[in-house]
Amino acid sequence: MHAFTTIATALVSLVSLSAAAPASEQIFEKRQDTIAGSVTICTGANYSGDCYTQNYTSNACNVLPAPYFENVLTFAPGHEILCRITNTQDTCTTHGDLFIEYPGSTQLDNYNGINYSNMTSFLCQKCTNCA
Ligand SMILES: *[C@@H]1O[C@H](CO)[C@@H](O)[C@H](O)[C@H]1NC(C)=O
Ligand SMILES: *[C@@H]1O[C@H](CO)[C@@H](O)[C@H](O)[C@H]1NC(C)=O
Ligand SMILES: *[C@@H]1O[C@H](CO)[C@@H](O)[C@H](O)[C@H]1NC(C)=O
Ligand SMILES: *[C@@H]1O[C@H](CO)[C@@H](O)[C@H](O)[C@H]1NC(C)=O
Repeated sequence: MHAFTTIATALVSLVSLSAAAPASEQIFEKRQDTIAGSVTICTGANYSGDCYTQNYTSNACNVLPAPYFENVLTFAPGHEILCRITNTQDTCTTHGDLFIEYPGSTQLDNYNGINYSNMTSFLCQKCTNCA
């Protein structure tokens, strides 16, 4: 009974929080459907191997399908898009492990000396301050 009360109280708090959400947060939610931009992903270095290019929705986690899951050497965002790559968990973490923008990397197993080629997922947003 006590546990139930605690959960109910937590839910009530959550609802009041949402009701009090500032206007900026509502705008952010509307923008979630917008396209962030395009990214090219390849299993090989220098755009070799299997590649695909797609436009990605802003602020949505993309878990890589096979054969790209944990197998990426080229990760190349287009202009005005910022992506967070996650390689330490099976799906996007809040902050990701690496922020990356244009022109990205054609040698993701050696990005400033770090091997991110076993990336699992990424999340992008539109970035007007990006190259
Ligand atoms: C990728 O291209 C760069 C520059 O042309 C070259 O130095 C590098 O060896 C290439 N890497 C691979 C794995 O092909
Ligand atoms: C991504 O969207 C842009 C702008 O609408 C379009 O020019 C481009 O062809 C699209 N790219 C892909 C891979 O669909
Ligand atoms: C990817 O490799 C790093 C070390 O290079 C490791 O810490 C991480 O756990 C690996 N990620 C996955 C999903 O196995
Ligand atoms: C990078 O990590 C992957 C998988 O974690 C591994 O297969 C590959 O050999 C590593 N590459 C380098 C250059 O260390």
